[in-house]
Amino acid sequence: MRILVVGSGGREHALCWKIAASPLCDKLYCAPGNAGIAADAECVAIGAEDIEGLVGFAKREKIDFVVVGPEGPLVKGLADRLEAEGIATFGPSAQAAALEGSKGFMKDIAAKYRIPTARYARFTDPAAAKAFAKSFTPPIVLKADGLASGKGVIICTSLAEAEAEIDAMLTEKKFGAASAEIVVEEFLDGEELSFFALTDGKHVLPLVSAQDHKRVGDGDTGPNTGGMGAYSPAPVATQEIEAAILDRIIRPTVAGMAAEGKPFKGVLFAGIMVTKEGPKLIEFNVRFGDPETQPIMLRMKSDLLPALMAARDGNLQNVDLRWSDETALVVVLAAKGYPDKPQTGTVIRNLDAAAKVDGVTIFHAGTKANARSEIEAAGGRVLGVSATAKSFGEAQARAYRAVDLIDWPGGFCRRDIGWRAVNRA
Ligand code: AMP
Ligand code: GLY
Repeated sequence: MRILVVGSGGREHALCWKIAASPLCDKLYCAPGNAGIAADAECVAIGAEDIEGLVGFAKREKIDFVVVGPEGPLVKGLADRLEAEGIATFGPSAQAAALEGSKGFMKDIAAKYRIPTARYARFTDPAAAKAFAKSFTPPIVLKADGLASGKGVIICTSLAEAEAEIDAMLTEKKFGAASAEIVVEEFLDGEELSFFALTDGKHVLPLVSAQDHKRVGDGDTGPNTGGMGAYSPAPVATQEIEAAILDRIIRPTVAGMAAEGKPFKGVLFAGIMVTKEGPKLIEFNVRFGDPETQPIMLRMKSDLLPALMAARDGNLQNVDLRWSDETALVVVLAAKGYPDKPQTGTVIRNLDAAAKVDGVTIFHAGTKANARSEIEAAGGRVLGVSATAKSFGEAQARAYRAVDLIDWPGGFCRRDIGWRAVNRA
């Protein structure tokens, strides 16, 4: 098979690494890819959001199967366009991708199909939004309806802050068109986890749980990021909690989307808060998580490709996935200044030695090769230093052993990735 993966992050490197190992894969392309992906796939210089460029390439190169990494192109209809050209694609239609593309739509689906989630309402009028915000004891959660590069959620610690943010979002259009409408919702208290399931629109195949670290600083402090590290499994995800997530959240959503005439095919990524009343849905993403995919792919023993194809073809009921019972953990190395102003263009050395540490795999995110064939930082999150081991403590030790061998004065990382899991063990 001739396969194209769309995207350029650590998630896409982990997907390419796994797909390249499949006996079904003859030729693998990645658009646009990065310097690490280039070891597993041929990178082509087409942006992940260049819908017509990607469709043209897939037709020209007779691609058999496309795997879309990020949400942006899905929300823009990349899967619909490719399928219309007869190119099989892993990833939901634009209508189904609205589960991530519109927070209001996602909340309405949850309400209609009785999926446990935070109490909410949708607003375009600031006065009405403020009146509703008064009905909550702070914190009060505000969400831009549309995609806002991961910045669209604001947790306000007072009513006054919420009122000011409502004006900023609705009146001053802080997030542009994405905040022309907002969701105001209840704050959920508990421990967060990431849950992933493949679905073909009808059948559901759960993957494994993971947890990520969203805050930039040690001890989960500082601004939110795309994720500074992750590990799998999530110790908080007991069998009972996983069963509740499947029965109360994932299955009703898949059935509900089918009933709406918008069947969801692809990977459904549920952000879950484990509350005193059980698991509740925080949000859906319509793609694999980044960096959660890195530890998840390291734990997957089975061939990923047939599972992705079955999700697209509608016969996921025939697929079974096997998992390593080892733990896996990824430490993200980011460029100094991330998440506000990452400084790119700095050179990273000694990656080969770091990759030789027992149990370690290094996935690239924002990297490129410069004219001297050195690896340079080319984004905010730059590397995902990943390790597997029997215990979280050992996986963590292995990952940091590799991190400490990397010579990159322009970068930084958190030193406590996996602390919850290590402490619990
Ligand atoms: P994202 O949408 O990925 O930027 O993430 C927003 C983050 O905000 C989530 O991962 C949660 O940590 C937090 N969050 C969102 N909604 C709520 C809520 N209703 N209650 C508590 N925390 C929330
Ligand atoms: N790590 C969270 C995300 O992929 O959105």
